[in-house]
Amino acid sequence: KNIVILISGSGSNLQSFIDSIKNQQLDASIAAVISNKADAYGLQRATQNQIPTHVIEHGAFETREAFDKQLAQTIEQYQPRLVVLAGFMRILSPTFVNIFHGRLLNIHPSLLPKYPGLHTHQRALDSQDEYHGSSVHFVTEELDGGPIIAQARLKLATFSEPESLQKAVQQLEHQLYPKVAAWFLGEQITMKDNGVYFESKKL
Ligand code: GRF
Repeated sequence: KNIVILISGSGSNLQSFIDSIKNQQLDASIAAVISNKADAYGLQRATQNQIPTHVIEHGAFETREAFDKQLAQTIEQYQPRLVVLAGFMRILSPTFVNIFHGRLLNIHPSLLPKYPGLHTHQRALDSQDEYHGSSVHFVTEELDGGPIIAQARLKLATFSEPESLQKAVQQLEHQLYPKVAAWFLGEQITMKDNGVYFESKKL
């Protein structure tokens, strides 16, 4: 049950996968971690846990397609059941998304369809929403737009700063994301016709 995880930064979500596997809450192994940034702290987390790492810097490629091709080839050598975007801050081309169609997950720090894109915590505060949170979704060609699998939320009223809000949302993410991966690897959820299906026989 191989997973490949793509990161760009701190990798706290990656850490939640490492921990969930150790605690036997997630029956999987992380085949590789790939970062588009050489200084991503998540690479150290991977190395400390004997997980192979790759750095593929987008600046070294002339086009998005060339970068995505290298990325896809690197992932495919591990033949993963699941590809997890965990704070991976690059928009992926339709060609890439199609290769991993139905087995590519992303986590986005908002209650989608609210606030696709950046600065989600500030935007939620500015809008004085009642709730804010995070969403795990299958990736399709539309940015932050694929079918939503699950969301975790909190009440916004007690927060006034985006920084503390981000911290709280990330704590929710660390519980949510490995759970969704476990559903997927247990064949409890599939993507079909741009929707998510929960397979009743396995629940
Ligand atoms: C997460 O909050 C995720 O929702 C967003 O980027 C952040 C990544 O954090 N896409 P980390 O690198 O996993 O710590």
